[in-house]
Amino acid sequence: MRTVPVALGDRSYDVVVGPGARQSLADLVARCRPDARRVAVVTQPGIPVTVETGLEQSVHLVPDGESAKSLGTVEELCRAFARAGLSRSDLVVAVGGGVVTDLAGFAAATYQRGISYINVATSLLAQVDAAIGGKTGVNIPEGKNLVGAFWQPAAVVCDTDVLATLPAREWSCGRGEMAKYAFLGGVLGDNGAPNVSLLDLPIEEQVASCVAIKAAVVAADEREGDRRMLLNYGHTLAHALEAASFAPDHPVDLRHGEAVAIGLVYAAMLAEHLGRITSEQVDVHRQVVGGFDLSADLPEGLDHRELLGFMARDKKAHHDLTFVLDGPAGVEVVKGVDEMAVLATLSAMADASRPGGGASPGGHS
Ligand code: GLY
Repeated sequence: MRTVPVALGDRSYDVVVGPGARQSLADLVARCRPDARRVAVVTQPGIPVTVETGLEQSVHLVPDGESAKSLGTVEELCRAFARAGLSRSDLVVAVGGGVVTDLAGFAAATYQRGISYINVATSLLAQVDAAIGGKTGVNIPEGKNLVGAFWQPAAVVCDTDVLATLPAREWSCGRGEMAKYAFLGGVLGDNGAPNVSLLDLPIEEQVASCVAIKAAVVAADEREGDRRMLLNYGHTLAHALEAASFAPDHPVDLRHGEAVAIGLVYAAMLAEHLGRITSEQVDVHRQVVGGFDLSADLPEGLDHRELLGFMARDKKAHHDLTFVLDGPAGVEVVKGVDEMAVLATLSAMADASRPGGGASPGGHS
Protein backbone atom coordinates (compact mmCIF):
# COMPACT_ATOMS: atom_id res chain seq x y z
CA MET A 1 0.00 0.00 0.00
CA ARG A 2 1.27 3.48 -0.86
CA THR A 3 0.28 6.70 0.88
CA VAL A 4 0.70 9.90 -1.11
CA PRO A 5 0.28 13.10 0.92
CA VAL A 6 -1.41 16.18 -0.52
CA ALA A 7 0.32 19.01 1.34
CA LEU A 8 -2.14 21.85 1.90
CA GLY A 9 -1.36 23.11 5.40
CA ASP A 10 -4.28 22.48 7.74
CA ARG A 11 -6.22 20.98 4.81
CA SER A 12 -3.57 18.34 4.05
CA TYR A 13 -4.69 14.77 3.50
CA ASP A 14 -3.50 11.35 2.38
CA VAL A 15 -4.31 9.42 -0.77
CA VAL A 16 -4.09 5.70 0.03
CA VAL A 17 -3.35 3.61 -3.07
CA GLY A 18 -3.15 -0.15 -3.51
CA PRO A 19 -4.96 -3.46 -3.68
CA GLY A 20 -7.56 -3.69 -0.89
CA ALA A 21 -7.04 -0.02 0.10
CA ARG A 22 -10.72 0.37 0.91
CA GLN A 23 -10.20 -1.89 3.96
CA SER A 24 -8.45 1.12 5.53
CA LEU A 25 -11.59 3.27 5.29
CA ALA A 26 -12.84 2.73 8.87
CA ASP A 27 -9.40 3.75 10.22
CA LEU A 28 -9.34 6.82 7.99
CA VAL A 29 -12.84 7.83 9.12
CA ALA A 30 -11.82 7.47 12.79
CA ARG A 31 -8.61 9.42 12.20
CA CYS A 32 -10.19 12.21 10.12
CA ARG A 33 -13.29 12.71 12.29
CA PRO A 34 -12.85 11.09 15.71
CA ASP A 35 -16.05 12.85 16.84
CA ALA A 36 -18.23 11.56 13.96
CA ARG A 37 -21.20 9.31 14.69
CA ARG A 38 -22.73 8.87 11.26
CA VAL A 39 -21.60 8.52 7.68
CA ALA A 40 -23.64 9.26 4.55
CA VAL A 41 -22.35 7.02 1.75
CA VAL A 42 -23.07 8.49 -1.70
CA THR A 43 -22.85 6.07 -4.61
CA GLN A 44 -24.57 4.87 -7.81
CA PRO A 45 -26.71 1.77 -8.41
CA GLY A 46 -24.21 0.16 -10.82
CA ILE A 47 -21.13 0.43 -8.60
CA PRO A 48 -20.28 -3.01 -7.21
CA VAL A 49 -18.21 -1.69 -4.30
CA THR A 50 -19.37 -1.78 -0.70
CA VAL A 51 -17.59 0.01 2.10
CA GLU A 52 -17.40 -0.40 5.86
CA THR A 53 -16.94 2.86 7.74
CA GLY A 54 -17.18 1.53 11.30
CA LEU A 55 -20.03 3.95 12.09
CA GLU A 56 -23.78 4.04 11.55
CA GLN A 57 -24.09 4.57 7.79
CA SER A 58 -26.90 5.49 5.41
CA VAL A 59 -26.58 4.91 1.66
CA HIS A 60 -27.72 7.55 -0.86
CA LEU A 61 -27.89 6.63 -4.54
CA VAL A 62 -27.46 9.18 -7.31
CA PRO A 63 -28.36 8.39 -10.94
CA ASP A 64 -25.75 7.35 -13.53
CA GLY A 65 -24.33 9.69 -16.13
CA GLU A 66 -23.15 13.25 -16.45
CA SER A 67 -26.77 14.52 -16.36
CA ALA A 68 -26.92 13.47 -12.68
CA LYS A 69 -24.43 16.24 -11.91
CA SER A 70 -27.11 18.85 -11.31
CA LEU A 71 -28.11 21.26 -8.58
CA GLY A 72 -31.31 19.21 -8.27
CA THR A 73 -29.30 16.12 -7.29
CA VAL A 74 -27.32 18.16 -4.75
CA GLU A 75 -30.59 19.38 -3.21
CA GLU A 76 -31.86 15.78 -3.04
CA LEU A 77 -28.63 14.70 -1.36
CA CYS A 78 -28.63 17.52 1.19
CA ARG A 79 -32.25 16.81 2.06
CA ALA A 80 -31.42 13.11 2.47
CA PHE A 81 -28.44 13.99 4.70
CA ALA A 82 -30.76 16.09 6.88
CA ARG A 83 -33.32 13.27 7.13
CA ALA A 84 -30.52 10.85 8.06
CA GLY A 85 -29.56 13.19 10.91
CA LEU A 86 -26.11 14.08 9.57
CA SER A 87 -24.50 16.74 11.76
CA ARG A 88 -21.56 19.06 11.20
CA SER A 89 -19.16 16.62 12.83
CA ASP A 90 -20.31 13.71 10.65
CA LEU A 91 -18.94 12.63 7.29
CA VAL A 92 -19.87 12.00 3.69
CA VAL A 93 -18.14 9.12 1.90
CA ALA A 94 -18.31 9.19 -1.91
CA VAL A 95 -17.95 5.76 -3.54
CA GLY A 96 -17.69 6.00 -7.30
CA GLY A 97 -16.16 7.74 -10.28
CA GLY A 98 -15.87 11.43 -11.05
CA VAL A 99 -19.62 12.07 -11.22
CA VAL A 100 -20.10 10.73 -7.69
CA THR A 101 -17.04 12.43 -6.18
CA ASP A 102 -17.93 15.79 -7.82
CA LEU A 103 -21.53 15.58 -6.60
CA ALA A 104 -20.90 14.23 -3.10
CA GLY A 105 -17.99 16.65 -2.64
CA PHE A 106 -20.14 19.63 -3.60
CA ALA A 107 -22.99 18.46 -1.37
CA ALA A 108 -20.45 18.10 1.49
CA ALA A 109 -19.07 21.58 0.71
CA THR A 110 -22.49 23.16 1.10
CA TYR A 111 -24.40 21.01 3.62
CA GLN A 112 -24.40 22.88 6.93
CA ARG A 113 -21.86 25.24 5.29
CA GLY A 114 -19.36 22.46 4.81
CA ILE A 115 -18.74 19.04 6.34
CA SER A 116 -15.92 16.53 5.87
CA TYR A 117 -15.89 13.96 3.09
CA ILE A 118 -13.73 11.08 1.95
CA ASN A 119 -13.53 9.86 -1.64
CA VAL A 120 -13.37 6.14 -2.41
CA ALA A 121 -12.53 6.36 -6.11
CA THR A 122 -13.73 3.36 -8.11
CA SER A 123 -12.79 4.36 -11.68
CA LEU A 124 -9.28 4.76 -13.05
CA LEU A 125 -10.10 8.35 -14.06
CA ALA A 126 -11.23 9.21 -10.53
CA GLN A 127 -8.20 7.48 -8.96
CA VAL A 128 -5.66 9.40 -11.02
CA ASP A 129 -7.51 12.70 -11.27
CA ALA A 130 -11.10 13.53 -10.33
CA ALA A 131 -11.12 12.38 -6.70
CA ILE A 132 -7.98 14.33 -5.77
CA GLY A 133 -7.55 18.08 -5.48
CA GLY A 134 -10.86 19.32 -4.12
CA LYS A 135 -12.59 20.44 -7.30
CA THR A 136 -16.26 19.70 -6.68
CA GLY A 137 -19.30 20.83 -8.60
CA VAL A 138 -22.18 20.29 -10.97
CA ASN A 139 -23.27 21.25 -14.48
CA ILE A 140 -25.90 23.78 -15.47
CA PRO A 141 -27.49 23.97 -18.94
CA GLU A 142 -25.07 26.81 -19.77
CA GLY A 143 -21.96 24.69 -19.20
CA LYS A 144 -20.07 21.85 -17.55
CA ASN A 145 -18.85 22.31 -13.95
CA LEU A 146 -19.96 25.95 -13.92
CA VAL A 147 -21.19 25.73 -10.32
CA GLY A 148 -18.93 24.31 -7.66
CA ALA A 149 -16.45 24.83 -4.87
CA PHE A 150 -12.88 24.02 -3.99
CA TRP A 151 -13.48 21.72 -1.03
CA GLN A 152 -10.70 19.33 -0.16
CA PRO A 153 -11.52 15.77 0.92
CA ALA A 154 -10.27 14.55 4.30
CA ALA A 155 -8.75 11.49 2.59
CA VAL A 156 -8.88 9.64 -0.73
CA VAL A 157 -8.88 5.87 -1.17
CA CYS A 158 -7.75 4.35 -4.50
CA ASP A 159 -8.35 0.61 -4.18
CA THR A 160 -6.80 -0.87 -7.32
CA ASP A 161 -8.66 -4.18 -6.77
CA VAL A 162 -11.93 -2.50 -7.79
CA LEU A 163 -10.51 -1.71 -11.24
CA ALA A 164 -10.81 -5.41 -12.16
CA THR A 165 -14.49 -4.96 -13.05
CA LEU A 166 -14.05 -1.71 -14.98
CA PRO A 167 -15.54 -1.76 -18.53
CA ALA A 168 -13.05 -1.35 -21.42
CA ARG A 169 -14.05 2.21 -22.24
CA GLU A 170 -13.67 3.24 -18.62
CA TRP A 171 -10.08 2.03 -18.85
CA SER A 172 -9.61 4.15 -21.99
CA CYS A 173 -11.04 7.09 -20.14
CA GLY A 174 -8.55 6.76 -17.29
CA ARG A 175 -5.64 5.95 -19.60
CA GLY A 176 -6.10 9.25 -21.46
CA GLU A 177 -5.50 11.08 -18.20
CA MET A 178 -2.58 8.79 -17.37
CA ALA A 179 -0.97 9.57 -20.75
CA LYS A 180 -1.16 13.23 -19.75
CA TYR A 181 0.82 12.55 -16.57
CA ALA A 182 3.57 10.90 -18.64
CA PHE A 183 4.41 14.45 -19.78
CA LEU A 184 4.03 16.21 -16.43
CA GLY A 185 6.79 14.46 -14.46
CA GLY A 186 8.84 17.68 -14.63
CA VAL A 187 6.68 19.13 -11.86
CA LEU A 188 8.26 16.61 -9.48
CA GLY A 189 11.69 17.95 -10.35
CA ASP A 190 12.44 15.16 -12.88
CA ASN A 191 14.31 16.31 -15.96
CA GLY A 192 11.01 16.90 -17.72
CA ALA A 193 11.53 14.01 -20.15
CA PRO A 194 8.32 12.07 -20.88
CA ASN A 195 7.88 9.03 -18.68
CA VAL A 196 7.28 6.54 -21.47
CA SER A 197 7.73 3.60 -19.10
CA LEU A 198 4.82 4.51 -16.81
CA LEU A 199 2.84 1.64 -18.32
CA ASP A 200 5.52 -0.91 -17.42
CA LEU A 201 4.80 -0.43 -13.71
CA PRO A 202 2.27 -2.51 -11.74
CA ILE A 203 -1.13 -0.77 -11.79
CA GLU A 204 -0.91 0.44 -8.18
CA GLU A 205 2.42 2.13 -8.94
CA GLN A 206 1.02 3.65 -12.12
CA VAL A 207 -1.85 5.12 -10.10
CA ALA A 208 0.45 6.25 -7.26
CA SER A 209 2.84 7.93 -9.73
CA CYS A 210 -0.02 9.90 -11.29
CA VAL A 211 -1.41 10.78 -7.86
CA ALA A 212 2.04 12.07 -6.77
CA ILE A 213 2.15 14.43 -9.76
CA LYS A 214 -1.40 15.64 -9.16
CA ALA A 215 -0.67 16.11 -5.44
CA ALA A 216 2.42 18.21 -6.22
CA VAL A 217 0.53 20.45 -8.66
CA VAL A 218 -2.45 20.91 -6.32
CA ALA A 219 -0.14 21.65 -3.36
CA ALA A 220 1.57 24.36 -5.44
CA ASP A 221 -1.62 25.95 -6.77
CA GLU A 222 -4.78 24.75 -5.05
CA ARG A 223 -7.14 27.24 -6.73
CA GLU A 224 -5.80 27.11 -10.28
CA GLY A 225 -3.99 30.44 -10.38
CA ASP A 226 -1.71 29.15 -13.13
CA ARG A 227 0.30 26.02 -12.34
CA ARG A 228 -2.77 23.82 -11.82
CA MET A 229 -3.71 24.57 -15.42
CA LEU A 230 -0.89 22.17 -16.36
CA LEU A 231 -3.31 19.41 -15.38
CA ASN A 232 -5.31 20.50 -18.41
CA TYR A 233 -2.57 19.37 -20.81
CA GLY A 234 -4.40 18.02 -23.86
CA HIS A 235 -7.73 19.31 -22.55
CA THR A 236 -8.31 22.41 -24.71
CA LEU A 237 -9.08 20.40 -27.84
CA ALA A 238 -10.52 17.57 -25.72
CA HIS A 239 -13.15 19.87 -24.18
CA ALA A 240 -13.97 21.23 -27.66
CA LEU A 241 -14.39 17.68 -29.02
CA GLU A 242 -16.64 16.82 -26.07
CA ALA A 243 -18.67 20.01 -26.56
CA ALA A 244 -19.03 19.23 -30.28
CA SER A 245 -20.18 15.71 -29.45
CA PHE A 246 -23.17 17.07 -27.49
CA ALA A 247 -24.74 18.40 -30.71
CA PRO A 248 -27.53 16.19 -32.14
CA ASP A 249 -26.49 13.87 -35.03
CA HIS A 250 -22.85 14.56 -34.36
CA PRO A 251 -20.41 11.93 -35.65
CA VAL A 252 -18.20 12.08 -32.54
CA ASP A 253 -18.53 9.48 -29.80
CA LEU A 254 -15.61 10.06 -27.49
CA ARG A 255 -15.14 9.51 -23.77
CA HIS A 256 -13.23 12.18 -21.87
CA GLY A 257 -9.93 10.31 -21.77
CA GLU A 258 -10.17 9.35 -25.43
CA ALA A 259 -10.62 13.04 -26.27
CA VAL A 260 -7.64 13.93 -24.05
CA ALA A 261 -5.46 11.44 -25.97
CA ILE A 262 -6.27 13.23 -29.24
CA GLY A 263 -5.82 16.58 -27.49
CA LEU A 264 -2.33 15.63 -26.29
CA VAL A 265 -1.10 14.86 -29.78
CA TYR A 266 -2.85 17.97 -31.10
CA ALA A 267 -1.10 20.09 -28.45
CA ALA A 268 2.23 18.58 -29.49
CA MET A 269 1.53 19.32 -33.18
CA LEU A 270 0.55 22.88 -32.30
CA ALA A 271 3.74 23.28 -30.24
CA GLU A 272 5.74 22.06 -33.24
CA HIS A 273 3.86 24.47 -35.53
CA LEU A 274 4.82 27.29 -33.17
CA GLY A 275 8.48 26.20 -33.21
CA ARG A 276 8.44 25.15 -29.55
CA ILE A 277 9.29 21.45 -30.01
CA THR A 278 10.65 19.13 -32.74
CA SER A 279 8.78 16.59 -34.86
CA GLU A 280 10.57 13.86 -32.87
CA GLN A 281 8.90 15.17 -29.72
CA VAL A 282 5.54 15.03 -31.49
CA ASP A 283 6.31 11.39 -32.33
CA VAL A 284 6.97 10.70 -28.63
CA HIS A 285 3.49 12.05 -27.87
CA ARG A 286 2.04 9.68 -30.49
CA GLN A 287 4.02 6.78 -29.05
CA VAL A 288 2.88 7.46 -25.48
CA VAL A 289 -0.76 7.77 -26.56
CA GLY A 290 -0.45 4.62 -28.71
CA GLY A 291 1.27 2.84 -25.81
CA PHE A 292 -1.80 3.51 -23.67
CA ASP A 293 -3.81 1.86 -26.47
CA LEU A 294 -5.52 5.10 -27.42
CA SER A 295 -6.08 6.61 -30.84
CA ALA A 296 -4.61 9.98 -31.85
CA ASP A 297 -6.83 10.28 -34.92
CA LEU A 298 -9.02 13.35 -35.24
CA PRO A 299 -12.55 12.07 -35.99
CA GLU A 300 -13.81 12.89 -39.47
CA GLY A 301 -16.61 15.33 -40.25
CA LEU A 302 -15.73 17.97 -37.66
CA ASP A 303 -16.21 21.67 -38.38
CA HIS A 304 -12.82 23.16 -37.46
CA ARG A 305 -14.17 26.69 -37.01
CA GLU A 306 -16.75 25.33 -34.59
CA LEU A 307 -13.95 23.60 -32.65
CA LEU A 308 -12.02 26.87 -32.61
CA GLY A 309 -15.07 28.61 -31.13
CA PHE A 310 -15.33 25.99 -28.37
CA MET A 311 -11.60 26.29 -27.66
CA ALA A 312 -11.88 30.08 -27.34
CA ARG A 313 -14.68 29.61 -24.80
CA ASP A 314 -12.84 26.95 -22.77
CA LYS A 315 -12.96 28.06 -19.15
CA LYS A 316 -9.22 28.19 -18.72
CA ALA A 317 -8.91 30.39 -21.84
CA HIS A 318 -9.84 33.49 -19.81
CA HIS A 319 -9.73 36.17 -22.54
CA ASP A 320 -7.83 34.69 -25.44
CA LEU A 321 -6.80 31.33 -26.92
CA THR A 322 -4.82 29.65 -24.18
CA PHE A 323 -3.15 26.24 -24.44
CA VAL A 324 -0.92 24.10 -22.29
CA LEU A 325 2.01 23.38 -24.58
CA ASP A 326 5.33 21.58 -24.46
CA GLY A 327 8.43 23.68 -25.14
CA PRO A 328 12.10 24.19 -24.29
CA ALA A 329 11.18 24.73 -20.61
CA GLY A 330 8.78 21.75 -20.55
CA VAL A 331 4.99 21.84 -20.44
CA GLU A 332 3.65 25.34 -19.66
CA VAL A 333 0.66 27.62 -20.12
CA VAL A 334 0.82 29.64 -23.36
CA LYS A 335 -1.59 32.54 -23.81
CA GLY A 336 -2.54 34.43 -26.94
CA VAL A 337 -2.09 31.56 -29.43
CA ASP A 338 -2.85 32.71 -32.98
CA GLU A 339 -6.09 31.24 -34.34
CA MET A 340 -4.54 30.62 -37.76
CA ALA A 341 -1.99 28.33 -36.10
CA VAL A 342 -4.83 26.53 -34.31
CA LEU A 343 -6.76 26.01 -37.55
CA ALA A 344 -3.68 25.01 -39.58
CA THR A 345 -2.81 22.39 -36.97
CA LEU A 346 -6.37 21.02 -37.02
CA SER A 347 -6.07 20.63 -40.81
CA ALA A 348 -2.68 18.95 -40.49
CA MET A 349 -4.08 16.57 -37.88
CA ALA A 350 -7.11 15.78 -40.03
CA ASP A 351 -4.77 15.00 -42.97
CA ALA A 352 -2.55 12.81 -40.81
CA SER A 353 -5.61 10.97 -39.48
CA ARG A 354 -6.80 9.85 -42.93
CA PRO A 355 -5.91 6.26 -43.91
CA GLY A 356 -2.26 6.32 -44.98
CA GLY A 357 -1.77 9.69 -43.31
CA GLY A 358 0.68 8.26 -40.77
CA ALA A 359 -1.02 9.63 -37.65
CA SER A 360 -0.37 6.62 -35.51
CA PRO A 361 3.14 5.15 -35.52
CA GLY A 362 3.26 1.72 -33.99
CA GLY A 363 0.26 0.56 -35.98
CA HIS A 364 -2.30 2.04 -33.61
CA SER A 365 -5.20 3.89 -35.14
N1 GLY B 1 -8.73 17.82 -13.34
C1 GLY B 1 -7.97 18.99 -13.31
C2 GLY B 1 -7.77 19.55 -11.92
O1 GLY B 1 -8.10 18.89 -10.96
O2 GLY B 1 -7.31 20.64 -11.80
